[in-house]
Amino acid sequence: MNVVMIGSGYVGLVSGACFAEFGANVTCVDKDESKINALLNGEIPIYEPGLDELVARGVAANKLSFSLDLEQAVGEADLVFIAVGTPTRRGDGHADLQYVYAAAEEVATYLKGYTVIVDKSTVPVGTARQVSRLVSAANPDADYDVASNPEFLREGSAIDDFMRPDRVVLGVESERAEASLRELYRPLNLIEAPIHVTNLESAELIKYASNAFLATKISFINEISQLCEKVGADVHSIAKGMGLDGRIGKKFLHAGPGYGGSCFPKDTLALIRIAQEHGCSSRIVESVVEVNASQKARMVSKIREALGGSEADKTIAVLGLTFKPETDDMRDSPALAILPALADKGAVINAHDPEGVKEAKPLLPTTINYCDSIDEAVKSADAVVLMTEWNQYRGLDLARLKETMNGNVFVDLRNVYEKGMMEEAGFEYCCVGR
Ligand code: UDX
Repeated sequence: MNVVMIGSGYVGLVSGACFAEFGANVTCVDKDESKINALLNGEIPIYEPGLDELVARGVAANKLSFSLDLEQAVGEADLVFIAVGTPTRRGDGHADLQYVYAAAEEVATYLKGYTVIVDKSTVPVGTARQVSRLVSAANPDADYDVASNPEFLREGSAIDDFMRPDRVVLGVESERAEASLRELYRPLNLIEAPIHVTNLESAELIKYASNAFLATKISFINEISQLCEKVGADVHSIAKGMGLDGRIGKKFLHAGPGYGGSCFPKDTLALIRIAQEHGCSSRIVESVVEVNASQKARMVSKIREALGGSEADKTIAVLGLTFKPETDDMRDSPALAILPALADKGAVINAHDPEGVKEAKPLLPTTINYCDSIDEAVKSADAVVLMTEWNQYRGLDLARLKETMNGNVFVDLRNVYEKGMMEEAGFEYCCVGR
């Protein structure tokens, strides 16, 4: 099968490389010439574990190629995936669909033979129908169907999430489109991955509802963590006790500094807007967004308290900047809210991150020092703040850390360490909800 992937970002590049692994002939197209040239030179513009090998394998097998020429690629395609960005529109929280619609209109004029045009990007309910209207207007004779095939990839484990999905969601309007997509995903039959077939609107809403629900679990446990601190309960134990109930499930109940990333913040806002547009309430998701913002603010107070009430003129070593480990992505990372608040009050910040410094620098105050090693960051620090649970921070040499630091405050925003062990090592240890 010939597949065109429009958009070579996180979703487009991972999906395209995985479809090539499934045996399809995939052409990844992007408007950004520098991105395409980098990919043609075998450079991967994003940090995603295993993606460089997967792309190299697809290119070597002549199954994966990169091009700026959409016309030629679409003319031969059985399926054209739209995997362009749908960023939050400035100011009003709507998903910005200009790139999706522009892609659809351009594709329409190049269609030859029956083609399925598939929304891979996370798009508001009704977008696939709008894409269909645009395509028919641009090319009334085109023989095509639209479909919605949302992705559930987590950054840092995107390839595994694609190759071993909990489910594949197909929003289709015709047997032909369903047959074409089932054929493309046939290799997943081997692992009996459930294919959930539904209509366009349901497929689009499944994506938003899933992300909003996952964000809800996180804000829920983050709010409970505040109560845990007051009553002397342990939020890890609460999460474990809750998660053993099959109806709740143990995942996404880790208390922390709040969720970030390119999806939860964007998709929760978009879902609220979609509900508003259709005259529906979305009080739960609105609260999820509010709780997340206040959790980040609560972390600033926690750090201030741990420093005896003021961070002014204190040196704070921050371990981790990205919104989660195994990515270089800084979008909506809690660090972007927490570090400026500390710097504003006169804290001196030494920041370290295995992958995120390049992305982080333009987004954070210029007064922040970026350190190449953990030792350099913690040297003469009054406090250490563990912001992102990279593996590099999970096995710190506590004796050496204590010796290198000036003070002995350790604020663990990801609950990686145990209080007893830290106090034995001479630290004043605080964390989230324990
Ligand atoms: C998420 C969804 O998981 C994925 O299905 C969707 O396709 C894209 O958005 P991603 O944003 O890459 O994936 O990362 P994820 O692992 O879900 O974490 C999102 C945020 O929630 C991170 O900031 C993480 O630190 C935080 N988180 C996650 C918690 O605070 N607690 C948890 O228990 C889990």
